[in-house]
Amino acid sequence: MIRKLAIGFALLISGAGPSLAQDASEGAAIFDAQCAACHVVRDAAGQTLAGRTGRLGPNLFGIAGQPAGQDAEYRYGAGLKAAAEDGLLWDEANFIAYLEDPNDFLRSYTGDRGARSKMAWQVRLKSEAADLYAFLASLD
Ligand code: HEC
Repeated sequence: MIRKLAIGFALLISGAGPSLAQDASEGAAIFDAQCAACHVVRDAAGQTLAGRTGRLGPNLFGIAGQPAGQDAEYRYGAGLKAAAEDGLLWDEANFIAYLEDPNDFLRSYTGDRGARSKMAWQVRLKSEAADLYAFLASLD
């Protein structure tokens, strides 16, 4: 909280253009509209930070910058498991590419043209995917 306030304050002073703080709040709205049906963000203490009851997909807590496939309570598809074993990290570039086309991303990442994602959703705008990344990173 204090860190977020400090960042917001610094941006206010510098008058920086599109700020991380703005992106993250855009991302919160996009998360509710596009992700919350299938995902929650719940921390280790069990507190729900975003979403409500979405269970079709894994918990996205701590996803920004972390290895793929870390929700121990979720049964991932074979394609995502293979990518995780190959060392897939959800850095911003991978996260955005995955959201734009999950099947295509897994196919090129694993080199397996038959790989499929269990996630039946695509984000149409790169800027939305970037805002989502900023939002999820802000919840770490
Ligand atoms: C229709 C349901 C659905 C929607 C909507 C959806 N997802 Fe998913 N998502 C899934 C499923 C199912 C998986 C598991 C994929 C697999 O195992 O192949 C997943 C996996 C993921 C992963 C990989 C997580 C990990 O643990 O490695 C990320 C990141 C992700 N989703 C982000 C998002 C974001 C951000 C949104 C909103 C734009 C979103 N998803 C919308 C169902 C959904």
